[in-house]
This record gives sequence, C-alpha cells and structure tokens, in this order.
Amino acid sequence: MSLITTFEEYKEQYKKSIEQPEQFWAEQAEQFVWKKRWDNVLDWNFVEPKIEWFAGGKLNITENCLDRHLAERGDQVAYYWEPNEPGDNPFQYTYSELHEQVCKFANVLKKNGAKKGDRICIYMPMVPELAVALLACARIGAIHSVVFGGFSALALSGRIQDCDCNIVITSDGAYRGAKSIPIKDVVDEALEICPSVKKVIVVERTNSPIKMVAGRDVLWSEEMKEASSDCLAEAMDAEDILFILYTSGSTGKPKGVVHTCGGYMVYTHYTFENVFQYKKDEVYWCTADIGWITGHSYIVYAPLLAGATSVMFEGIPTYPDAGRFWQVIDKYKVNIFYTAPTAIRALEAAGLDFVKPYKLDSLKVLGSVGEPINEEAWNWYNVNIGKENCPIVDTWWQTETGGILISPLAGITKTKPSFATLPLPGIQPVLVDDKGNEITGNGVEGNLCIKFPWPSIIRTTYGDHERCRQTYFATYPGLYFTGDGCKRDLDGYYRITGRVDDVMNVSGHRIGTAEVESAINMHVDVVESAVVAFPHDIKGQGIYAYVICTNKNKSAEFLRLEIMAEITKLIGPIAKPDKIQIVSGLPKTRSGKIMRRILRKIAEGDINNLGDISTLLDPSIVEEIKAGAL
Ligand code: WT7
Repeated sequence: MSLITTFEEYKEQYKKSIEQPEQFWAEQAEQFVWKKRWDNVLDWNFVEPKIEWFAGGKLNITENCLDRHLAERGDQVAYYWEPNEPGDNPFQYTYSELHEQVCKFANVLKKNGAKKGDRICIYMPMVPELAVALLACARIGAIHSVVFGGFSALALSGRIQDCDCNIVITSDGAYRGAKSIPIKDVVDEALEICPSVKKVIVVERTNSPIKMVAGRDVLWSEEMKEASSDCLAEAMDAEDILFILYTSGSTGKPKGVVHTCGGYMVYTHYTFENVFQYKKDEVYWCTADIGWITGHSYIVYAPLLAGATSVMFEGIPTYPDAGRFWQVIDKYKVNIFYTAPTAIRALEAAGLDFVKPYKLDSLKVLGSVGEPINEEAWNWYNVNIGKENCPIVDTWWQTETGGILISPLAGITKTKPSFATLPLPGIQPVLVDDKGNEITGNGVEGNLCIKFPWPSIIRTTYGDHERCRQTYFATYPGLYFTGDGCKRDLDGYYRITGRVDDVMNVSGHRIGTAEVESAINMHVDVVESAVVAFPHDIKGQGIYAYVICTNKNKSAEFLRLEIMAEITKLIGPIAKPDKIQIVSGLPKTRSGKIMRRILRKIAEGDINNLGDISTLLDPSIVEEIKAGAL
C-alpha cells in the first residue's frame, strides 16, 4: 500500500484499517524482507492480555534497516552526527558504513559472550556508537535496554537488575553543553550491586581517565580493530522481544515496557512515512535522546527502515546559545524537524535574536512530541520557525504505544493549534467516563482508551505480565487505557489534556509522583511526603513536594538541599522538585488517604478555591500549608 497523499486517501486507508485490519497491516508488512512469511496476522485479547502480530514470521529488523538499502543507497548518508561543541568535527555514516559498523560490533558482542535473548544495557550519550549498539543487539537477537544517561547509578542498577543484563555498553564520559559528565563512574557504582553483569564495553568519547576493571571492562575501539564485518542477521520470530524500555507509572518502580520485532517494525515505519511525509533525499532531524522511546522509534528504527537521512545531535538546545537548533538546521539543510514543546518554550523565552541570524528556509515540516503543546508555543513555532509555511504535526503517543497514534499527516490533515487532531489508520480511540462508559459524539471529554490493537502496542511489562494487565487493561475492561485525559471537539479532533493519573511530565520527561516520594522518604529526617505537579511556563509541569520532617534543628533550606541530593542519588537530576515545602502534616481523609486535589490546588497557587475540605481529619493543616506555600 502506498503513502497517503491526500485527505481522501487518509479516510480510505482509515476505513480499510478498521474494517479489514489484518489485510491492511499485512499489506504494509509485505514490503519488508521476511526470512519466513507469517502464519497469522493477528491474534489478540485485551483480557490476559495477549497480542501477537505476524506470528510465525521470521525476520531481522536490521536487515530491513540496513542490508535492504545497500544496493540502492549504500552511499547515502544515514546519519549526520553533530557534536556538542559546534567547532568540533562532525561525523557521518553512510548506509554501507553503518551496516559495516553494526556487523562488526555485533561480532564484538558475540565475542564478549552475548547470545540471542540476552539482555544488554546501554547507558551512553548521543554518540554515533549508540545507534550502532542498538542495531548490533538487534542483529544478534539480543534485547537492548537503553537507560537514559541522566539517570543515577541507583536508578541504573535497578533497571539492570530488573531484567538481569549480562553486558553494559557505556562511554568514558559525556558532553552535555558546558558540562562533562563521568558516566563510566556511574556505571562502576551501579555495578557494585549488579552481579549479573559480566562485561562492560566502553566507548572513548571524552578521553577522561577511567578505571578499567580487569576481566570485565573492554574498550570499544580495541575490540572493533579485530572484528569481522560479516555477521549474519539472526532469524527472529516476529514476536521475539526487540527491546525493553523502562518507564514510570503512577505506582511502584519503573516498569520494563516490552516491544517485539515484527509489529514494531511495520508500525513505526508506516507512521514515520505518513506523519512526516518523508520523501527520498530529505534530511530529517529528531532532537530527542535515544534513551527515550522517541529516539528508539524515530531516530533509530523508523528513519532507517525508510532509508532516510537523519541528523543525530549530541548537545543541548541552549549550548553554546539558544540559536543552536536553528544553526544546525541551516547547516544540514534540515527539511523535517521534530522536537518537544519544552524546548520550543525555552527557545521562545530566549528571544528572537537567537532565531534571526538563521535562514531556516530548508524546513518543510515541523513536529512536536512528548507533552501537550500550548497554543502560544504552537503559534511561536509556526510563525518564527516554520514561517507559516510548514505544517506542524503534534504527535501523541507513549512509550507503551511504540509509535505515533494520534497526529496530523503533514500537509494533509488540517491542523489546529494544540490538537493532535485525528487517529492514524489502525487506531480506534474511545473516550470513557470514570465508570468506563463510552462517551460518544463530539464536543466531549473523557479518559482516552484504545479499543483495538495496533502492531506496536506494548506486549508485556518485562518479568511481570500481571502488572501490564493491571496497569493498562484492567481499569476499563476490554480497552487499553492510556492514562491521558482527552477532549474530542465538534470536528472530531482530539486534544490531549494531560495525564489523569499520578504520572508527571516534566520537560517531556515522564516521572511518577510515587517514585519521587519514595526517594524523599529515604532521607533520615523525613516522615512522609506528597508530591504533585503544577503548571510550569517552560517545563510544562514542575514538581512540588510537601515534606514532613522530624528534625526541628535543621533549617528548611538545609533540608531542601539534602532532599535534592537524595533524589539526585536515587533517581537523577531530572526528578528534582522545583519547590519543597516543609509542613507539619498532610491533608488526609479520615481513612488516611492524602487529598492530592488540595495539594495540587495549593501548588497551582489557587488557594482560595480548594473545594470541600470538611472530610479531612484535620482541616486546620490546610491553613498552615496555604500560609507556607511557595
Ligand atoms: C505521555 C507519554 C510520545 C513519546 C514521548 C513521551 C504525553 C506525549 C504528547 C502530545 C500531549 C503528549 C502524554 C503521554 N504526550 N505526546 N503530542 N500531546 N501529550 O513518551 O514518556 O511514554 O510519555 O506523554 O501524557 O501519556 P512517554
């Protein structure tokens, strides 16, 4: 089936995808290289849940990302890599070079003991070797578990332990803006409590001094010297695990979201081509970090499946100044640019002087992802970056969905600021009330669920299938529950209003309130805490923590610093609260439940509108918290 080019075709494909989903997705799957054709397109129920796409089919995703393109576009650039420091040498991989590197590194992995099905943890900055590492795992059928480089040693160790990784791939250090971060030290610390790890492979990026543990640690460059560039791609079942990616939920520890080979390949490729309307020879740039799902799907897998040329960027949007993104767009003549609202708002706040020096005339399509984009940021992006000439695709999806579910198709779907607009073919959204009754019609609002599987839907949470069922399939039986609230306007357009559970979205990073609370509670002087999100001009949401402490001798300021340090140690700097208020109690109901609604209102600064507080055990505590609000 061909690329959608008109709104009529979108409607036709949508209709077909609902009426004949199996035939629709089988047609999409035809274009790939399968070592063996599937027996059955789809087998599913949302009760256990059990979801299988293309079962019996055998493939290797890297053959489809790389080998398949060699004859036609071996010399085409797969990645332009732009380093943190604008003056430093950029670097590029053609498809042939990337193929060679992936095969060589796949052999390095094997030499270091990796086998099909093993879990391999990747904890690295945005260097080209990162993409090579993911693909090399996929080549040999090892399961990668990428952990974002901003997580702490303890957070890293928790993720390594949860899926029993035997190898860690990392680098000596990482450059991020003006900072140089010793990430190998973080790995060393994490591995003190991870006996499953037998080998550590270290990329030299900063050439800073590191400790190499004899017998365990090897250098990427040394290992690659001898490696052969022939590596047969392992035949994977369509439903074998491709990767695990940990994400935060409303309760407990982060869970390992599992994606499998076949469906993920078909769906990410389909959405990439249709949403961005990628055309041959265009240059595409997604600014996400590969440590998150956006990077997995739309920096690594989908663009390569489509034979695209991408930019991969090591740095941050504000280094050396807030013009960096725009400079890089001009440098590589980027046609399609995909970033997050938090970055747009931060660059907007920096002022137009950072935009003016750049032409930005190569741009054709702009994308947004990760959190709701407010109307003001949407307009700023449209006017100042897109010059009112580039469609904006506001793409809504999640780690669990693998790929984009609700989004305009660039230049095809009429856009509306702050609306993700319409479901992609194959996606059947429904809004339900809190009791699970479907809310039909337009001009309505409810909890967003999806009622039919698409090929890259989460299969399980690693090692704990019951948790997957509980979290996504039990709230509203028969439906996949997204955790998001959503409006459907009179045109049938969808607008995501944000999470309805205790998951926060801070600068596009997903963080559970419970995770931050349990980190705060580790502090010796803390009795109890409650964490809520509040609206933040740049980050989308900020973190507000209410903390009860026993030690009356420490100043609030000192306690705040200690709590910040505790959170940095247990999770990482991304989870540090913007505000910490020391309180003597929390607003609890007689049954002991914290009334978060009240705490959210106070955090928002809406203190005169707290609603009914008569059911509280001790209503006077509210007065105290209001008086001390930050
Ligand atoms: C949550 C998922 C999508 C990959 C990156 C984030 C929020 C994501 C949008 C959007 C409004 C959005 C939702 C979702 N979200 N994209 N375009 N408009 N909200 O993946 O870390 O799994 O977070 O991000 O709340 O549930 P994630």
